[in-house]
Amino acid sequence: MIPGPAPARTAELRVAAERAARAAAPALLAAFRSDMAVATKRDAHDVVTEHDRRAEGVISEVLVGLEPGSAVLGEEGGSTGGGRLRWIVDPIDGTANFARGLAYWCISIAAELDGEVVAGVVLDPVADHLFAADAEGAWLDGVPLRSASLPDEQATLLTSFPVQHDVDLLGDAAFDLLRGVTERYRHHHSLGSGALNLVHVAAGWSDATTGFDTAPWDVAAGALVLERAGGWFRGFRAGEAVLPSHLAPDYVASGRGGAHEWLVEQVRAGSARIADEARTARPA
Ligand code: IPD
Ligand code: CA
Ligand code: CA
Repeated sequence: MIPGPAPARTAELRVAAERAARAAAPALLAAFRSDMAVATKRDAHDVVTEHDRRAEGVISEVLVGLEPGSAVLGEEGGSTGGGRLRWIVDPIDGTANFARGLAYWCISIAAELDGEVVAGVVLDPVADHLFAADAEGAWLDGVPLRSASLPDEQATLLTSFPVQHDVDLLGDAAFDLLRGVTERYRHHHSLGSGALNLVHVAAGWSDATTGFDTAPWDVAAGALVLERAGGWFRGFRAGEAVLPSHLAPDYVASGRGGAHEWLVEQVRAGSARIADEARTARPA
């Protein structure tokens, strides 16, 4: 087995990510609930603001300043640089909420070293909550985090599902899954920030979370926080398990002690269906 980085090194990367997130937060807080121009990306439901791009610029500058020669993969700026250390950055996860004035969005930054996520932070500037993880553990504002999941019939499941993109990918199966979820789980909430969903599960404030066709910047930091808080994160592509899991488009995750066997199978099958639908739709 290849030994991982020294814990002290992962702590250093966590602190760098914290500094970058803290550097970007004041401008985002100032802009929140102000008038702002909103543009669309993939479709009419996928929004971006000038603040996303600006925040990513600030974050990247701090990170590369602290770790010269590191690479950045950002939602807005794409890939820059190369090297063993890559920062995976979502400057605002939950932009639809941010742009509309709903207080459920965050900054997400992960440090990936030799392909493995070794540190991560998720900063919720409105609540002033800093969720962080490295090789030694996971913390909320410095206090160790411990997740816990109830059985399905008592559990609260956090998603951002289904949005139109899920329906585009899964067809009617998206509504079948929604029906199953509302029947099986005590509560199901569609909140609009995959990263915050993961750290809410890590904090023990909810039991499980899932998403389809997401990107590494949505999950890399939150998944590490959850795992270090005793929970688990499983990623799928085309119905197959993916490792490292933060590179998987489809995922399901739980707090400590949760099995969520039904949900895992639904997500795996949904993941396979997305690939099948894409194959069928592609011209020969
Ligand atoms: C989105 C949020 C949402 C998830 C989408 C993401 P954005 O990120 O995490 O919860 O369902 O897949 O794209 O666009 O707000 O950064
Ligand atoms: Ca995102
Ligand atoms: Ca984003």
